[in-house]
Amino acid sequence: MRKQLLQLLICPGCLPLEIPLRATGVGGSGEEIESAVLGCSSCGRRYQVNKGIAFLVPEEANGDGRYNETLVVSSYLFSQYADLLGEAATTAYTQWEGLLGQSAALALDAGCAAGRLTLAMGSISELAIGIDSSPAFIKAAKALHMEGKFRFQLAIEGEITEETTITLPDELKRSKAEFLVADALRLPFPASTFSLCASLNVLDKVADPLRHLLELNRTSLGGGARLLFSDPFSWSESSAPKELWLGGRRVGPFTGRGLDNVRSLLEGGRGLIDPPWRILSGGEAVWVLRTHANHSERISSHFLEAVR
Ligand SMILES: C[S@@+](CC[C@H](N)C(=O)[O-])C[C@H]1O[C@@H](n2cnc3c(N)ncnc32)[C@H](O)[C@@H]1O
Repeated sequence: MRKQLLQLLICPGCLPLEIPLRATGVGGSGEEIESAVLGCSSCGRRYQVNKGIAFLVPEEANGDGRYNETLVVSSYLFSQYADLLGEAATTAYTQWEGLLGQSAALALDAGCAAGRLTLAMGSISELAIGIDSSPAFIKAAKALHMEGKFRFQLAIEGEITEETTITLPDELKRSKAEFLVADALRLPFPASTFSLCASLNVLDKVADPLRHLLELNRTSLGGGARLLFSDPFSWSESSAPKELWLGGRRVGPFTGRGLDNVRSLLEGGRGLIDPPWRILSGGEAVWVLRTHANHSERISSHFLEAVR
């Protein structure tokens, strides 16, 4: 983890209070921290930096264990980097990358998985930070970024796997990116930190979707900010109780379609998001999540590009 991040990190367990974390026992060389303890002077929580990765999830946050399974990690590595493996790729990531704008100061990719969009954000910004609650994803994303290549076992069928290597092209190798284990519902950053925020296919996977939107809003600059939001709205009680879904309901606080509700919230509806965002464009991006050689899911994700 770069030393630069020490200026930014706050205690996720103390939110909405923004208490800076203080590092002790720092090991590493130059600008890179390999190990440290990041302590909160208010609640006493201590977060570890281990092998260059900061673990900023408070113990009470519910992790979604399925994203740590080897085959799920392999599935996302393939889905995000298929074009670099010479496979017929979806155009979704290229489509989303085209919506990031020309340049940014600090950028955030919330729920980054294996980091494809984070690396693209890091090629147009001063620093892009990818966060995910899955340590397995963050370790893979960080290793790929540091080495420029990553070897993994791609699922073929049953127990049969095939050793596969992703090699980054030069523009992604040069990307200024950082990866942290953190919770998209308790972002460890102060208000007004990012000029570019992205949340791709995460809203329907978190335990409290409204809180995720409000966290993206809190950590985005009040002026001069860009937001890329996309989701397939696959609401499921395995991620969040129905009362907290932002759509897909006939009764409750958010009836109707998720995309309409998110658009309205971003535009300042219900007075929850201020200053409001202006929606520049919207559309559909189709991506493919490969389970094994003979099985893939085709997912239609609806995006909004917003500024304020
Ligand atoms: C469907 S995947 C999308 C990954 C990536 N954004 C993409 O579109 O390729 C959902 C991601 O959200 C992450 N996730 C789920 N709940 C989270 C939380 N509370 N905080 C951070 N990440 C979370 C998962 O680990 C997973 O990487």
